[in-house]
Amino acid sequence: MIVLQRVQKKLGTHPVLRHIDMEVKQGDCFAIVGPNGAGKTTLLKICACIHRVDAGNVYWNGQDVYKQLTQYKKSIGWISHQHFLYESFTPVENLRFYSELYGIKNREETIQRWLRVVDLYVFKDIPVRNFSKGMKQRLSLARALLHEPNLLLLDEPFTGLDQDGIQLLFRLLREEREKQTAIMMVTHDFSHIEKISNKVAFLHKGKIAVESMQTKEEHVREIYNTLVDER
Ligand SMILES: Nc1ncnc2c1ncn2[C@@H]1O[C@H](COP(=O)(O)OP(=O)(O)OP(=O)(O)O)[C@@H](O)[C@H]1O
Ligand SMILES: [Mg+2]
Repeated sequence: MIVLQRVQKKLGTHPVLRHIDMEVKQGDCFAIVGPNGAGKTTLLKICACIHRVDAGNVYWNGQDVYKQLTQYKKSIGWISHQHFLYESFTPVENLRFYSELYGIKNREETIQRWLRVVDLYVFKDIPVRNFSKGMKQRLSLARALLHEPNLLLLDEPFTGLDQDGIQLLFRLLREEREKQTAIMMVTHDFSHIEKISNKVAFLHKGKIAVESMQTKEEHVREIYNTLVDER
């Protein structure tokens, strides 16, 4: 379980996150919504320890993340706008690199399995620089999941995926929830939220303005519009 307590973060002189309290339990898929510039990516970067908090704390299973940084980072699967793939490497070489980094056992078998799951097996020996955006995103899914993380931090993870890719990601996320992985997912597409999330947080003016267990698209849109109109 990840817990954020009174988290504050400035970027430059701009206070992006003013006071964030949040708790994401194992098996939760917590959607985070908010307009452009609201601080959603910043929030995920704090959870991934890419940014340090200015004040407040982030706990993972009851302990400050910075007191268990190496172990904690191995627990995270991270998907963002950057795919973190080596362009000159093939999919097999990319996944080999990450599986060595994470100390995965049965490496070759795991890599082959993931390449089939994300439907890139036939492209396994082609350098990633030749890949389309969606193909890179599929490989990123494999990169983010192959070490069996307990916490998924997903920043607009559906970006670039075709219809099959979107269905694949839903299936993978459902499986992750069944395995009790905790998921934080930023999205601008409210229709995705009710399909996979059990909670939604609305980030507004540096705070979680509303937190709801009602994840139906119309409900999310209504709250979102009310908050944005108040700007
Ligand atoms: N490195 C930086 N230096 C200064 N300000 C930054 C930096 N990175 C982000 N910001 C500012 O922080 C605010 C929050 O940015 P963030 O990327 O977290 O927003 P977001 O909610 O993810 O937006 P989007 O929906 O567009 O992805 C923005 O106002 C942005 O201009
Ligand atoms: Mg963002």
